[in-house]
Amino acid sequence: MTNARIYINPVSGSIKIIGAVDFVDAEGNILETQENVKFCGCGLSKDKPKCDGSHRDKVAKKD
Ligand code: FES
Repeated sequence: MTNARIYINPVSGSIKIIGAVDFVDAEGNILETQENVKFCGCGLSKDKPKCDGSHRDKVAKKD
């Protein structure tokens, strides 16, 4: 099994995880598993916690 890798874009703030990501509830039950997910770190996404590309309106494109 290969560890997931995380890349935090220092310009946009987006947080990209390369590998499998389990989404869990408060009890730790897996609700959904997705591959290669990008989360919002800029606060502008309308689809939080995922990045929807809205950061491109405010910062230079770097990812
Ligand atoms: S990092 Fe916030 S919309 Fe992409």
